[in-house]
Amino acid sequence: MRHQPVGFLRERNILSVRSFMLLFLSCIFNLGFPGTPSSLKTLPLDGHLCFDKIHHAARDFGNRYQFLPLAVLHPKSVSDVATTIKHIWQMGPSSELTVAARGHAHSLQGQAQAHRGVVINMESFSGMKMQVYIGKHPYVDVYGGELWINILHESLKYGLAPKSWTDYLHLTVGGTLSNAGISGQAFRHGPQISNVHQLEVVTGKGEVVNCSEKQNADLFYGVLGGLGQFGIITRARISLEPAPKMEIENLLSQLSYISSTLFVSEVSYVEFLDRVHVSEIKLRSKGLWEVPHPWLNLLVPRSKIHNFAEEVFGNILRDTSNGPVLVYPVNKSKWNNRTSVVLPDEDIFYLVAFLSSAVPSSSGTDGLEHILIQNKRILDFCEAAHLGVKQYLPHYTTQKEWRAHFGPRWEVFVQRKSAYDPLAILSPGHQIFQKAISIL
Ligand SMILES: Cc1cc2nc3c(=O)[nH]c(=O)nc-3n(C[C@H](O)[C@H](O)[C@H](O)COP(=O)(O)OP(=O)(O)OC[C@H]3O[C@@H](n4cnc5c(N)ncnc54)[C@H](O)[C@@H]3O)c2cc1C
Ligand SMILES: *[C@@H]1O[C@H](CO)[C@@H](O)[C@H](O)[C@H]1NC(C)=O
Ligand SMILES: *[C@@H]1O[C@H](CO)[C@@H](O)[C@H](O)[C@H]1NC(C)=O
Ligand SMILES: *[C@@H]1O[C@H](CO)[C@@H](O)[C@H](O)[C@H]1NC(C)=O
Repeated sequence: MRHQPVGFLRERNILSVRSFMLLFLSCIFNLGFPGTPSSLKTLPLDGHLCFDKIHHAARDFGNRYQFLPLAVLHPKSVSDVATTIKHIWQMGPSSELTVAARGHAHSLQGQAQAHRGVVINMESFSGMKMQVYIGKHPYVDVYGGELWINILHESLKYGLAPKSWTDYLHLTVGGTLSNAGISGQAFRHGPQISNVHQLEVVTGKGEVVNCSEKQNADLFYGVLGGLGQFGIITRARISLEPAPKMEIENLLSQLSYISSTLFVSEVSYVEFLDRVHVSEIKLRSKGLWEVPHPWLNLLVPRSKIHNFAEEVFGNILRDTSNGPVLVYPVNKSKWNNRTSVVLPDEDIFYLVAFLSSAVPSSSGTDGLEHILIQNKRILDFCEAAHLGVKQYLPHYTTQKEWRAHFGPRWEVFVQRKSAYDPLAILSPGHQIFQKAISIL
């Protein structure tokens, strides 16, 4: 059994038989599962469910995994999300329907997809009114499907900006908060999940719940870095600060470095933050954006970074022409240990990101296969050398691997799943839990 269902263990066998019969019947008579999708069609929604234009929802930035959903929900309100999930929750464990929130679909291995389930197009919320609050502790209230680039532009109207970023801003709030949101600012301010005051979440039972450090704290921390497993983030309150001015000379004067290695490129704050988008436009024009992206992101403890570098950069990775490799130091004291994110066991660690693109080569060699072999060698080395490395944006296909990833935090993760999404309806693309019944 690859994935342990969360609940309904005892009923599993009976239900499996029943579901097999239903599958059999549905194949012969084309009946569909009970309540699917005809009952979905009658849901009272402000937006709409789409059953034909669904192919885009089977794609993501990774360009390697494609699972066709049954339907795509284009919500126009939070209650659309709640109504749909509640309906599927009420169908109980005999329905195979799952639900995945799809932000900007910049996942790498199908994490925002739902095989024969419902994909919620969170960007339908994009452009809905954001509300900036000025004052001593400024913040902005945004929808879960909002892109960070839009938040930047809106908050700058008030001379304010979020504190912590990702390298690339065409990602949604819900998508990055479900992982962590790490970039250069994380060392000073913590990741994006350390800079959120409050969330509104729709749980796997279709309940709309506000949560924060003070209110429903377990859900709040669970959702942060929670890989979409406990609820769909429909709103978030994000901490702001006065947008920094350029102070490069002042900052450089505090650093010790070899002056001949200094490389300076002077750009505005927005140009700096939106820098990857410039590359995106160039790559798109050459047809090099929509290629497979076998990325590998690792969190390496400080005490092991030299061992890691020696073997990985000195031996395994002879050729880095497949894409950039980023290395950031991260300070754990800026992370809250109640969130769902899994980190190495040391106070300082490095994010090492291998951001490869598998570009078809003129020699006809399979670039993708080569990169995947290299990634595996890196992972195998980390494991064999007991470096205590954790994956960021983790991808595993068996529950055994997930357990090992979570380590001592697995029990809490499972408890939260059974509290907030007991039927395992949400975010099936991670393959952590499987909906209670299974035909496999
Ligand atoms: C070019 C590029 C640069 C990147 N740079 C960085 C970086 O610098 N730092 C960093 O930390 N990450 C970075 N990432 C990774 C990125 O943060 C994740 O891939 C993130 O998940 C993408 O956000 P998205 O909106 O596209 O999410 P999706 O891919 O749409 O979704 C990701 C996961 O979150 C779930 N999800 C989506 N929306 C919600 C919601 N509202 N509520 C609950 N769950 C939800 C999905 O079901 C899925 O499981 C980068 C990715 C790309 C492609
Ligand atoms: C959650 O909080 C927001 C903003 O404070 C509010 O508008 C919304 O109605 C709340 N939702 C619930 C379910 O209480
Ligand atoms: C990490 O942050 C803590 C708390 O702010 C600080 O005391 C410590 O010096 C930082 N570590 C490094 C290496 O900067
Ligand atoms: C989490 O951090 C708090 C405060 O820093 C600490 O007291 C607690 O022991 C930590 N818990 C775990 C599980 O590491």
